[in-house]
Amino acid sequence: MSQPAWWQRGAIYQIYPRSFADSDGDGVGDLRGIAAHLDHLSALGVEAAWLSPIYPSPMADFGYDVADYCDVDPVFGSLEGLDRLIEDCHARGIKVVLDWVPNHTSDQHPWFVASRSSRDDPKRDWYVWRDSAPGGGPPNDWLSCFGAVGKAWTFDQGTGQWYLHSFLPQQPDLNWDNPELEAAMHDVLRFWLERGVDGFRIDVVFRIAKDPLLRDNAGSSRRHDEDWETIGDRLRGIRRVADEYSERMLVGEVYLLDLRQVVNYINTGDQLHMAHNFVFAQLPWSAQAFRASIDEFEALAARTAWPAWMLADHDLPRVASRFDTDGQGPARARAVSVLLYALRGTPFVYQGEELGLPDAEIPPERIVDVDGRDPERAPIPWRPPSQAGPGAGFTTGEPWLPLASAAEGLSAEQQATDPRSTLALVRRLAALRAQTPALQLGEQQMVDASSEVLAWLRQGDGDRLLAAVNFASVSVSLELLGDLPGRAALLLSSDPDRAEGDVELGSFQLAPSEAVILRL
Ligand code: NOJ
Repeated sequence: MSQPAWWQRGAIYQIYPRSFADSDGDGVGDLRGIAAHLDHLSALGVEAAWLSPIYPSPMADFGYDVADYCDVDPVFGSLEGLDRLIEDCHARGIKVVLDWVPNHTSDQHPWFVASRSSRDDPKRDWYVWRDSAPGGGPPNDWLSCFGAVGKAWTFDQGTGQWYLHSFLPQQPDLNWDNPELEAAMHDVLRFWLERGVDGFRIDVVFRIAKDPLLRDNAGSSRRHDEDWETIGDRLRGIRRVADEYSERMLVGEVYLLDLRQVVNYINTGDQLHMAHNFVFAQLPWSAQAFRASIDEFEALAARTAWPAWMLADHDLPRVASRFDTDGQGPARARAVSVLLYALRGTPFVYQGEELGLPDAEIPPERIVDVDGRDPERAPIPWRPPSQAGPGAGFTTGEPWLPLASAAEGLSAEQQATDPRSTLALVRRLAALRAQTPALQLGEQQMVDASSEVLAWLRQGDGDRLLAAVNFASVSVSLELLGDLPGRAALLLSSDPDRAEGDVELGSFQLAPSEAVILRL
């Protein structure tokens, strides 16, 4: 096997800075808070930290409304603080990935302020402005991705035209058909690449290419507001900028629910390195659904394309909550970690998943997000509230969102000393992957097994591993088909009660929601 790139070796850990750790008691997480918890990342053995947006922002969408691409919001710290954090991470062998938001800015960004100031402003065409439709009303039928927002157009009284916003009205869409805008966005990338940033997660990247004729979606066999044919050239332009520097990585949020479209972003080798797969991220808890989705991706992806696996982020309900039928949520969260680390591809771990956190309950008066995503954004409980107070070591102040009520039993401090904890399991998984080349670049082959079991082989350099996940909430036997040995060595189980040692494959029973990795 060849040598993996850094982004293929192990997990990329997503930090949602507002909710990670607050150093100054204002209830909102910040860069110093992250810096104070780098031991947690080191112990987790993550290859990289991806930071959700830290740029100056009015926070209408909690940072995904960027008012300045080349600075840090004071609520998070300063540019110097970010430089120091990058240095500290690099000193520990942890890469830093920023979230780049190229589809839209904040309405407070100076570019938009200029653009909306007059129809003749040089920046007018950096955004998407149109006259009313002939009978009045918005120029076309496009809708915001946020259901509560409705139409994707807002009328600007001052200049008498509508501007496009795929999300909030406070997030006007940039016009990527304008070459000056494209060049300015490339310079944003260079600004951060020069500062030593190792890569970018590219927010809603499939939306930076739209039908320039702005035709209606209705009545068309395809959508006109995303994934337009110009996307390939746009991605190649972005990739060329990343490739001006060594070993940089681009992973895109490609929220398209047809995998044939998704693989176009990674198959040619000159666009993105990885694409988040939202078909996978939204699967129901079913071995057959997972098998079919993994098979479909493998069938469509080029041999050189590299998968990114994630089941949780700051926009999706937490794994322990959404798969919580029959009280199996916590056990399934553990099994999911095994799945992500043992599949061929890069595991993405959203902060708190390594603790098996459930969604927090948000009382109506504490709701702050327009799209119902507060529960998965609750702060990290670093210490038990009984010892650290109600802020659970996240803050000494009033947290911007309530913590999950399970904070007492699931705090990082408590789990770190408990060998049976979810955190201990994820640390072991990371260590196993780090010392096992076959888990990094090894070939992958799905294995037929009992209908409730997902099983697959990873092999390379003479090493042969079998991974299996029991999707049932009862014990099941593996019932593997194929040319496999009678005995295997159990390397790791998600079940803390599983005894170590050799096992008989023919009679091996998986516990409810158990996932294992065996060496054949
Ligand atoms: C996707 C981000 O993950 C989400 O949090 C945000 O609201 C939208 N893009 C808009 O930037």
